[in-house]
Amino acid sequence: MAGTTGTSPRILLLVTGGIAAYKSCYLARLLVQAGFSVRCAMTDAATRFVSPMTFEVLTGAPVAIDLWGERGTAALDHISYARWADIAVVAPATANTMAKAAGGLADNMVSTLLLAFPGPVVMAPAMNDNMWRHAATRAVRATLLERGVRFVGPGEGFLACGTTDEGRMSEPEEILAAVREVAATLPARALEDAAAPALAAPGAWLGRRVVVTAGPTCEPIDPVRYVANRSTGAMGYALAAAAARAGAQVTLVSGPVALPVPRGMAGIVHVETGRQMAEAVDAALGAGADWLVMCAAVADFTPAEPATGKLKKDVLGDEWSLRMVRNPDILGEVVPRHRQSGVKVVGFALETEDVVARAMGKLRAKGLDFIVANNTAAAGSGFGDVEHEVILLGPAGELWRSGSQRKDALAPALLSQLAAAAGDDGR
Ligand code: C5P
Repeated sequence: MAGTTGTSPRILLLVTGGIAAYKSCYLARLLVQAGFSVRCAMTDAATRFVSPMTFEVLTGAPVAIDLWGERGTAALDHISYARWADIAVVAPATANTMAKAAGGLADNMVSTLLLAFPGPVVMAPAMNDNMWRHAATRAVRATLLERGVRFVGPGEGFLACGTTDEGRMSEPEEILAAVREVAATLPARALEDAAAPALAAPGAWLGRRVVVTAGPTCEPIDPVRYVANRSTGAMGYALAAAAARAGAQVTLVSGPVALPVPRGMAGIVHVETGRQMAEAVDAALGAGADWLVMCAAVADFTPAEPATGKLKKDVLGDEWSLRMVRNPDILGEVVPRHRQSGVKVVGFALETEDVVARAMGKLRAKGLDFIVANNTAAAGSGFGDVEHEVILLGPAGELWRSGSQRKDALAPALLSQLAAAAGDDGR
């Protein structure tokens, strides 16, 4: 079930009784989309605003409400939910729940979970402006701040009580950004049992704008036939997923592949041809990027005059030839236009002989910061979801050999190496 498998930081979303609870449904969805595992607990009051079923569907996990297992809901063990989580997010956080947390009360599922949970807590308060300004709430907030609680908002805006003032819950996107920041500070051990490997220095990719290209391109011969290659997109998709898990804002530019879009992409552009990929990369770099990871196997040539109707064999006869012309070299021609922006550029090279020397030649010819040479000489290095070995090269030569690894393990390891080699440790 979505949201219950531990592939990334685990978020316990605690929903308390304010009208802003409706915005927390969207927050749950954003968290899931961003690749977090999410479970939810609600106070009784919260269930009056939003049905637990909504969160159950969005997170794919039972919602904890009832400490006693009465009223038809399972008596979810609050200790196991508290143990499961890496981060607790209280949104909306009412004055009542904040005060209980500050005072150490444990009289419902949410307050009990907060007391049983030892990890980092993010709170997004939402309440009437007078309640927010009350000396009692001020004191509660000061106590919670002192204990390390991270507050998001409240912001100013239209309140349900009819006034426009401070007390409005921050927007879900803002809360997500705070959760991402907190997630980046989690000790590696907190994520140890994650199925997907974590990065050595996750902070290095936090908030970085990363454009990843992946897959082959398909160059049309006629409306039904095309010229393509054997790239499956596995490596590019694994890199895009790993970067997003590390908090990067990833734009994935993908040729036609049979893979699901990884969770948490900031943008996805589907293209068919090398020319379309060139345009998409141009646009993505124009919008601002810190890294371009050019993993796609872009066709070097494209049919000069694709036929508008299906070519017929009785017309073509026993033999025919296809005239091909060069596709734009994205790294060689498009990327240099954006070089002054400071974007770091990573190319890929598939070579069958003289792997290192040829890859170094490409790095120099295309003016790349890094090139990742696929070591096809290594056993099991190839297309698709198989073990793979790469050699990372910089302008001064060889930087790292991955050894044979699964692509989903290789991707975060490669990102860590890239960040370290670029001197970017995220601080
Ligand atoms: O020179 P070669 O095509 O082998 O270089 C491979 C690298 O160049 C890859 O990173 C690939 O994505 C990129 N490339 C490109 N534009 C092309 C062909 C390849 O940017 N037309």
